[in-house]
Amino acid sequence: MAEKFKMKILCIGAGYVGGPTMAMIAHKCPQYKIVVVDINKEKIDAWNSDELPIYEPGLYDVVKSARGRNLFFSTDVDKWIKECSVIFVSVNTPTKTYGVGAGMAADLMYWEKTARRILECAESDKIIVEKSTLPVKTAQAMERILNSGENSRVKFEVLSNPEFLAEGTAMEDIKNPDRVLIGSMQTDSGIKARDVLCEIYSNWVDKEKILTSNIWSSELSKLVANAFLAQRISSVNSISALCEKTDANIDEITNAIGTDTRIGNKFLKASVGFGGSCFKKDILNLVYICRTYGLTEEADYWENVTKINRHQKQRFVLKMLSSMFNTLADKRICLFGFAFKADTGDTRETPALFVAKKLVEENAKVIITDPKAISNAKSDLSDYSLKIEYIVDPYEAADKSHAIAIMTEWSLYKELDYEKIFSSMEKPAFIFDGRNIVDHKKLYNIGFNVYPTGKSPLTHF
Ligand code: UDX
Ligand code: UDX
Repeated sequence: MAEKFKMKILCIGAGYVGGPTMAMIAHKCPQYKIVVVDINKEKIDAWNSDELPIYEPGLYDVVKSARGRNLFFSTDVDKWIKECSVIFVSVNTPTKTYGVGAGMAADLMYWEKTARRILECAESDKIIVEKSTLPVKTAQAMERILNSGENSRVKFEVLSNPEFLAEGTAMEDIKNPDRVLIGSMQTDSGIKARDVLCEIYSNWVDKEKILTSNIWSSELSKLVANAFLAQRISSVNSISALCEKTDANIDEITNAIGTDTRIGNKFLKASVGFGGSCFKKDILNLVYICRTYGLTEEADYWENVTKINRHQKQRFVLKMLSSMFNTLADKRICLFGFAFKADTGDTRETPALFVAKKLVEENAKVIITDPKAISNAKSDLSDYSLKIEYIVDPYEAADKSHAIAIMTEWSLYKELDYEKIFSSMEKPAFIFDGRNIVDHKKLYNIGFNVYPTGKSPLTHF
């Protein structure tokens, strides 16, 4: 039976970005056939089951609405490259761990392999869409590989369409984006390809929110957006350290400065540090690019954003150590939350990993609780399995512990019965709030010694 789809769209890479983005396109556009492929069979099996491989509020319902109708998950990369005319690529681009640029540059190995696969399999013209975050000028390299003459019958047009979704709010972000950015070559064929992608998004995004630019601006915008967001957090976290020395209160300060419309009130929350797969990787990538062009001062400027972030995590652990009488050995310390932020099970670059490792180095007994991230935590800390316990129930996790450290701003931690928790803990009982989410005065009145972030501690000593 001939298929009646208006367009066939492929996405290579069924991760945090590819999965939710394609599910939304399929949900909003029943006239397109959408296929998501991945080399990881387990992941594809999970996308085809009731237990999706990632947790994201609202994702399951959207997947269910379209799966089997116009949304398909498969491991057959080659077949679908042949069949689809638009190919999104959202394979991972981690920080390089070897050779030139190790620890800084983006590792484009998976991207290049994917480009070569496309080149080998394609039998008709394709639009290739960069969804992964890539260093500026990657499209040029891709264009060269793809149009390298090995398959000169086929024409490839490369577009840049960076993803700005944040985990935990991904579905909402894709449904109602602040903007969609599409970068293309300024040639006739580039603009034609751009228009195809604009048409896909215009099924649910207002035309004025679809921005177009040259391809290099688009690639660089993604790195710059993440660098600016992370820079706000490092700026506020640096001031949180000053607040702890001066009896000023970080929430009062951010409230005061955030009402200035030139500054704005978002992304001003002091924390134990930012995590997530993108911020550190993208800043280091930006730093590396600056250095490549000889822009040393500019590179140093942005690198300091990541240095402050590491320092903030370190400061958190040192605060625990010094306030708990300079020894954590044999003390039970319970981490409330392990995910890098609330409403996700993702633990990539989570500050909780840094904190857990440092606590183990101090010979503390670490107990980790989290509603969604326990299995990722176990694999992140597999080398430490004998020294860490994992308990989903927060009351049980806190039982007989000397301290609680709030690592993730899950709203469930705001609503716990802290009197009950206090009574089951060793005394003196400590709570370190790395997210400033609990009522510090109330906890102090219950009997806790409370250490917020960027505010004076409330102690009974
Ligand atoms: C990825 C990039 O890491 C990020 O830079 C970009 O901004 C968006 O895309 P994410 O979706 O979070 O982010 O990555 P991940 O969840 O690791 O998914 C990538 C998927 O690609 C994995 O499932 C992996 O198995 C798959 N993959 C990787 C392939 O299918 N083929 C490859 O050759 C390599
Ligand atoms: C980020 C960008 O927001 C998104 O646009 C991009 O596409 C990918 O990277 P994500 O990593 O999913 O998204 O989460 P985000 O909400 O940006 O949070 C990153 C980290 O910053 C988290 O650890 C979060 O807890 C922390 N954070 C955020 C703060 O510490 N304070 C804040 O005010 C905001």
